[in-house]
Amino acid sequence: MPNPNTSKISQATRYQNAAIQYYLGLTNSPYLHYGYWEHVPSSSDEVTIKQLRVAQEAYAAKLLTFIPEGTRTVLDVGCGIGGNAAYLIERGFNVEGLAPDAFQEERFIENTKGQAPFHLTKFEDFQTKNSYDLILLSESSQYIAAGDIAQCAARLLNPGGYLLFADMMRSDAKYDEGIFSNCHVVEDIHAALLETGFNLVKTEDISKQIRPTLDLCIDNFRTFGLSTLKYLGDIVKIAVPPLQGILRWISNRWLKKLVVEGLAAPKIFDKHLCYQIQLWQFLK
Ligand SMILES: C[S@@+](CC[C@H](N)C(=O)[O-])C[C@H]1O[C@@H](n2cnc3c(N)ncnc32)[C@H](O)[C@@H]1O
Repeated sequence: MPNPNTSKISQATRYQNAAIQYYLGLTNSPYLHYGYWEHVPSSSDEVTIKQLRVAQEAYAAKLLTFIPEGTRTVLDVGCGIGGNAAYLIERGFNVEGLAPDAFQEERFIENTKGQAPFHLTKFEDFQTKNSYDLILLSESSQYIAAGDIAQCAARLLNPGGYLLFADMMRSDAKYDEGIFSNCHVVEDIHAALLETGFNLVKTEDISKQIRPTLDLCIDNFRTFGLSTLKYLGDIVKIAVPPLQGILRWISNRWLKKLVVEGLAAPKIFDKHLCYQIQLWQFLK
């Protein structure tokens, strides 16, 4: 088996990690994913944090429908703070979690009530004597190179085992700079998995069912985030006037571009991206 190339965490990924923390602060949820809005809201009044929590439970249930009969052991790669793992444990699966983040480790152990081992490592560096019936990547595939996903999964799966991933992907390969540019190009990940010996069993596009979460994030950012930023800026101007110039420079240099792009995220998603769940079987 060739050695998977480990890739450095890109700037885009670090921006997304910051977004995760922001999202966590908003939702106080055990999930770090977009959720699955079974009923796509027709009015913005229905797009609330409360409904997002409902959508997140529905997403875990949706993933469950993709898990083949007979699956017992699951490696949850990029497990976050344990929402999906806890959901699967409650339904009788043996789950192990993996993520390269000590903050998540603590929350994962708490949310899974210590019922699942946690491996503090990147998927690319993970070594174990265990093998698994299914490897799950729920919104973590975008952080790992396509070749690494395919090769690491092939190394860790039982014969005939499955790779289940759900994530945003680029339907437009030409979109290669900006907020979502670290998402895989659909064809690239497809090619890497086929080349390694995986067969596509089932796929579903759920772009419409995750889309309200983008609207919700932007709406909250516009209402609370921007006004909080402005308030903090005003306070600093009054309390420490010499910092005014530095703040203005930071704002012009970075903040404005980030804010403009952040606010455009739903439109960028519609134009260049999609969200798919894919189940692959390793047959070699
Ligand atoms: C958006 S969160 C998704 C969390 C969780 N799967 C969920 O659905 O709630 C992305 C996760 O990928 C993890 N991650 C990032 N780079 C990784 C890598 N190289 N190997 C494994 N996990 C990684 C992050 O630490 C985080 O846990």
